[in-house]
Amino acid sequence: MTTLAPGAACALPEVPEAPPEELRERAWAARRALGTRLVVLGHHYQKHEVIEFADITGDSFLLARRGAEATHADLVLFLGVYFMAEAADVLRAPHQTVVLPDLGAGCHLAECADIFTVRDAWSQLTDAFPGRRIVPLTYMNSGADLKAFVGEHGGAVCTSGNAERAFRWAMDQGDMVFFFPDEHLGRNTAARMGMDPWSPVVWDARRAVLGGADPDRLAAERIVLWKGFCNVHTTFTVRQIDEARERHPGVVVIAHPECPRPVVEAADEDGSTEYIIRRVRELPAGSAVAIGTDWNLVDRLRIQNPDKTVFCLNEHICPCITMNRITLPKLTWALESLAAGEVPNVVRVDEDMARWARLALDRMLALPG
Ligand code: 13P
Ligand code: SF4
Repeated sequence: MTTLAPGAACALPEVPEAPPEELRERAWAARRALGTRLVVLGHHYQKHEVIEFADITGDSFLLARRGAEATHADLVLFLGVYFMAEAADVLRAPHQTVVLPDLGAGCHLAECADIFTVRDAWSQLTDAFPGRRIVPLTYMNSGADLKAFVGEHGGAVCTSGNAERAFRWAMDQGDMVFFFPDEHLGRNTAARMGMDPWSPVVWDARRAVLGGADPDRLAAERIVLWKGFCNVHTTFTVRQIDEARERHPGVVVIAHPECPRPVVEAADEDGSTEYIIRRVRELPAGSAVAIGTDWNLVDRLRIQNPDKTVFCLNEHICPCITMNRITLPKLTWALESLAAGEVPNVVRVDEDMARWARLALDRMLALPG
């Protein structure tokens, strides 16, 4: 099980009540007092009111790596969700401590798979196909316990930016890839590899026997996808794309690969958050860009690219509610606590688990290409 540092588990933010401008000043004062002892990492989906405090912004993997590289800092404050802070803890230097301003900042997608149901699925699969070499792959958006499981069973972690390379590697290692927890990223990756995106078999953990999959299909197919999804990216639809094209002829539609397959198929391009940011910057002035990903990132791209019309495919979307749990008051509380010499909300992965999880992350880093 994932563990928190002693004394940190119940630390609820004593959220200061003050007008935003005052909080901002207090947070900056605490930040300045901490100097280079602290590095602040911010995921692209974070709210505007906190992202300005990030020394480094990026996707989940880039942030985990950059935290470990910032060895001048013994404190790593993570503006993101729990699985990201865990990955930062797995990769951190020995003298570093990772802090998350709200330990309740989870991820719907990561929580679609837990270690108990994955272990059960693994036993069923390995018992049903004793001669087959099954390689487990987990998306970065998963708990440290699942990353450790994968590390222990010869598999690797992947992100939306390198899923194709990871799938190809896993298919070379064995004859069946078992991917969790995002069915949609798995399907979109199969399509990128030139496969029929509907050929992978879906494993539905709510079904007791073989995840509800047909045994003959399981025997014949090479990819098994866990039935999990992101509740933000599955709000995008083909109809929204059609409407965007009607309203803005020539619009470039870019979807994150956590979107369902029909949406990615109808889009012009798909890619990770880093890819989306790069593409919006590259497009010529005057372009219209409709984006299928979290609202905070799209709104920031809109502000940063005033020469283009940048908008979210789903105009009525709620930003990711777990990412949004990191607010200015909680950040102020965390920074002021750190400046006062207290270290609240430490995220600490059990040592043995961290060792296996690191192996799975290292295998990803060593992927060819
Ligand atoms: P990235 O790792 O691509 O930033 O994605 C994280 C995420 O939560 C996407 O929904
Ligand atoms: Fe998780 Fe989706 Fe939020 Fe990303 S956007 S953190 S995958 S719930």
